[in-house]
Amino acid sequence: MIELLRKDHNRKDFDCGNATLNIYLHNQAGQDVKRKLSACFVLPDRDTTLIKGYYTLSNNSIPLQSFSQEVRRKLPKSYTSIPTTLLGRLAIDKRSQGQGIGKILLIDALKRSYEISKELGSFGVVVDPIDISAKNFYRKYGFIELPDSGKMFIAMKTLKELFG
Ligand SMILES: CC(C)(COP(=O)(O)OP(=O)(O)OC[C@H]1O[C@@H](n2cnc3c(N)ncnc32)[C@H](O)[C@@H]1OP(=O)(O)O)[C@@H](O)C(=O)NCCC(=O)NCCS
Repeated sequence: MIELLRKDHNRKDFDCGNATLNIYLHNQAGQDVKRKLSACFVLPDRDTTLIKGYYTLSNNSIPLQSFSQEVRRKLPKSYTSIPTTLLGRLAIDKRSQGQGIGKILLIDALKRSYEISKELGSFGVVVDPIDISAKNFYRKYGFIELPDSGKMFIAMKTLKELFG
């Protein structure tokens, strides 16, 4: 079951193969949660204490200029920055990769973001992929690249078609 990060989850043995994402869970996620800077969701292994994967969500906004001309045309010019939801990190432990868990966590994050957007405005979900492999993963699920920033985006309207 995917649940909010707690003190008794075993963070220190998590290893997704990426040092930045490991260190974040080992050392910083707890502090960020405490300070309400982000929410961290984990999938604990039922039999061991290991965390199979985690993701983080927070409020975010991105400049109107970050969107392509085509998207900008549909947005009011009075909004210089557009409210979005940031899927800041998503990582699966190496021992659990390639078993569909990344997909499960991503869909959970997107569904959760969509549900929240019914009560707190958000134009879409933004990710900032750490490398080309991560980019390919998000592309597979319909994220499009934002010009210039390296970030990727999926519109809440698209998520409504999936979850609404
Ligand atoms: C990228 C990552 C999240 C994928 O998780 P995973 O559990 O291994 O992936 P899944 O088994 O759920 O794969 C689901 C689908 O995505 C595909 N996929 C997985 N990784 C992919 C990648 N890097 N690029 C393209 N497609 C990928 C799988 O082939 C599978 O496709 P299928 O359903 O058609 O068979 C995971 O490998 C990981 O944590 N990597 C290190 C950290 C990282 O890169 N995080 C990402 C963003 S910050």
